[in-house]
Amino acid sequence: MTCTVIVGGFFGDEGKGKIMSYLSLKDNPKIAVRGGVGPNAGHTVVFEGKEFKLRMLPSAIINKSTQLMIGPGVLVDPNVLLREIETFSAHDRVKVDRQCGVIEEKHIEMDRADAYLKGKIGTTGTGCGPANVDRVKRVGKVCRDIESLSKYVDDVPLLVNEAIAKGETVHVEGTQGTFISLFHGTYPFVTSKDVTASAICSDVGIGPKAVDDVIVVFKAYVTRVGGGDLPGELPPEEAEKRGWLEKATVTGRIRRSAPFNFDLARRAVMLNSATQIAITKFDVLFPETKNLREFSRLPSEAKKMIDRIEDATGVPVTIISTGAEAEATIDRRKELGFL
Ligand code: IMP
Ligand code: MG
Repeated sequence: MTCTVIVGGFFGDEGKGKIMSYLSLKDNPKIAVRGGVGPNAGHTVVFEGKEFKLRMLPSAIINKSTQLMIGPGVLVDPNVLLREIETFSAHDRVKVDRQCGVIEEKHIEMDRADAYLKGKIGTTGTGCGPANVDRVKRVGKVCRDIESLSKYVDDVPLLVNEAIAKGETVHVEGTQGTFISLFHGTYPFVTSKDVTASAICSDVGIGPKAVDDVIVVFKAYVTRVGGGDLPGELPPEEAEKRGWLEKATVTGRIRRSAPFNFDLARRAVMLNSATQIAITKFDVLFPETKNLREFSRLPSEAKKMIDRIEDATGVPVTIISTGAEAEATIDRRKELGFL
């Protein structure tokens, strides 16, 4: 196994941060490189009892021997990035591509003041949409123009492809989720770019033949923030009763929720050419599975749910998250022939 792409299969907030941080400890990648839109993402990573919220750096941050990179397709907010580098003392292992687009204060202001973006679409207000507009118009700044980033700026696609050619382990971290993709999502209630596996590869500068595995991450129930259709949406009181009521990492908004959607899962597997599925928050659906690490110990009801997901999608569920800590994970990759 060399190059694995990890993407979200629903509307973002599937718990990718947990899965990616677990995988970074387990697989010990040489490089973890982030694709996706930009700091509209919020990945929560829990390690040694401490919770970290990441908006720019890869979730592999908890593995101190992994180099952390950001591909040229990603928008960078220099303030957010520099703060994260500082917080995690990651100065020596961060590389940002010279062509990453830059989010400026004016983009954030536009995103927050625009009645359509803020009011109707319900954006995260992080400036991503307006910065991508400037990028498409070819007037936006890129990271090589920003002095405070000069120490971190490099040719990320070259570094990533060299590592893959040497047979090193590389993790490509996606952000957002399949159904908020600009192309494949519930338009217009979507983010400002495609975020399926192909787009994530393009963001970091690798072609489809460089990829060995695509892991699509689904939460055990579905959530979304902002506007747009959510099939089977529950009233907030019911969501609370089930323990599904969540607050968004970046905006603090309440997430809307619905039961696991097998049709969306099947389509997400198709759109991402997924070879494996990771399920998160399994312990929220089946409290007796909390912190379990062996598949054989799952109650039959829980195993039945895994069977149903595999039957609906035709792809094996190789990773099951049973708690917030990276280690609270059932990893079936070896027994299913992926390692
Ligand atoms: P924007 O990406 O900030 O322009 O927001 C557009 C839509 O995508 C809104 O519905 C946001 O809530 C949603 N969105 C963007 N990024 C994320 C994410 O990382 N997780 C969940 N929803 C997101
Ligand atoms: Mg999130």
